[in-house]
Amino acid sequence: MKFFVDTADVNDIRELNDLGLLDGVTTNPSLIMKSGRDIQEVTKEICSMVEGPVSAEVTATDFSGMMKEADILSKIADNICIKVPLTLDGLKACKEITGSGRLVNVTLCFSANQALLAAKAGATFISPFIGRLDDLGIDGMELIAEIRTIYENYDFSTEILAASIRTVNHVKQAALIGADVATVPPATLKALVKHPLTDKGLEAFLADWAKTGQKIG
Ligand code: E4P
Repeated sequence: MKFFVDTADVNDIRELNDLGLLDGVTTNPSLIMKSGRDIQEVTKEICSMVEGPVSAEVTATDFSGMMKEADILSKIADNICIKVPLTLDGLKACKEITGSGRLVNVTLCFSANQALLAAKAGATFISPFIGRLDDLGIDGMELIAEIRTIYENYDFSTEILAASIRTVNHVKQAALIGADVATVPPATLKALVKHPLTDKGLEAFLADWAKTGQKIG
């Protein structure tokens, strides 16, 4: 499973990238707003830090507006992935953009039929939003499973990018189902390493080691 980090905070991205944990980054208009920075400037900085795809979202809602913005965002760097919403205009833009050899992430997916349409439009990634479905009492993980089945039934190459992840358990469940990618907030990504028995075990080993009076090397 590939790990993307879901943020536009360059300090968090740098830290996770230095740990060797990152395969890419996803941003959205809300995350850009949270960063307090200019979209082109911050996206350029992120693209220079990370080798994998960096999703930058269009904000126009009509096809021609989306295409204009996609062209501007594409010029930022070679690893830009254009994010378009799951609307009819977004799907049309997806087909056009992937047709020109660029990467597209179709975002705001909340149903299996939407994911089917995105795959038919040639999306590189489909982003089903797990947490936002869970918030409504709908099992977001079931959507990931449905999309996995549909994409395998028809051999679609669109990658399932589990999005709106809120917990470490979401990551585990998405991995068990076979999502290709998880885009995870920085704190949740770092929390994946945590286990109380790891901390307790390490503490005991170090205490015993101190008693030996030895040093390695
Ligand atoms: C995905 O690309 C989105 O940026 C993100 O996962 C949305 O998550 P949220 O529902 O926590 O805002």
